[in-house]
Amino acid sequence: MKATLSISGKTKIFGCISDPIEHVRAPSVFNPLFEKHGVDAVMVPLHISSKNLDNVVSGLKAMPNFGGMAITLPHKLPIMELCDQIGKQGQLVGAVNFAAFDDNRRLIGDNCDGTGFVNGMLAAGYSVANKRVLMIGSGGAARAIAFSLADSGVAELSITNRTIVKADELVNSVYKAYPDILVNSVDPDPRGYDIVLNTTSLGLKREDPLPINPEALERHQLVAEIIMNPEDTPILLAAKSRGCKIHYGRPMFDHQVAIIASLFGYDFNI
Ligand code: ATR
Repeated sequence: MKATLSISGKTKIFGCISDPIEHVRAPSVFNPLFEKHGVDAVMVPLHISSKNLDNVVSGLKAMPNFGGMAITLPHKLPIMELCDQIGKQGQLVGAVNFAAFDDNRRLIGDNCDGTGFVNGMLAAGYSVANKRVLMIGSGGAARAIAFSLADSGVAELSITNRTIVKADELVNSVYKAYPDILVNSVDPDPRGYDIVLNTTSLGLKREDPLPINPEALERHQLVAEIIMNPEDTPILLAAKSRGCKIHYGRPMFDHQVAIIASLFGYDFNI
């Protein structure tokens, strides 16, 4: 964390906006990175209620030393109306989780969840282009990842979810945006895919059941996770014991941070 005494008149300010605010993690992630990379910047938590979002963003826009913000609930959707420009992923997902002011004080927002996942896979040496992917789950993270996988040219994106109608809806959204990709709603059977990806919350708790039958995992497959804690979730442990390659949840987070830092104007190599 940047020592308070080293904040000067030249220090650039970033925010993390949320309501409630106490749980946010971005300041604890970005401040040590600013410090580590010798960047004269600080990120502060900004507790903003929905009814005041408009006013606060106008105020921040008027502050030339305010660079941008990480965005959490409940502001991920409503802030879109206040952005002057929204990146491709933000538009497709329909939510933005970071935004920065450009040199003309225009607010540029985007969503880094899906790109963070794909960049993490690529950095680990796993390609996604032309792969057959089974994605388990259809929540917020899954939505972002689905568009990014489609954008990266997967051969097939099959989606399975406890609530089937949500998988169907996601399939339709992806198909509309990427009509050339084979995308379908399927049963939770991993056989035949190159990549099996868990985006559900199953695995956060030790006693959680597996989202698929581990006996059906095949040795040639890559099994990926987006949960960071625990590192070895039940599906990854099952995949390891079946001899599959695995990809942890942490790289997605690290690459999200790098993407946000890049919009803030900093190159934090991962
Ligand atoms: P996030 O924003 O982290 O993606 P989310 O939007 O709440 O979180 O999505 C959670 C995902 O985990 C959903 O796909 C959810 O399935 P439903 O759409 O059926 O709710 C899935 N999930 C959560 N608990 C589950 C459980 N006990 N069994 C199967 N799937 C579960």
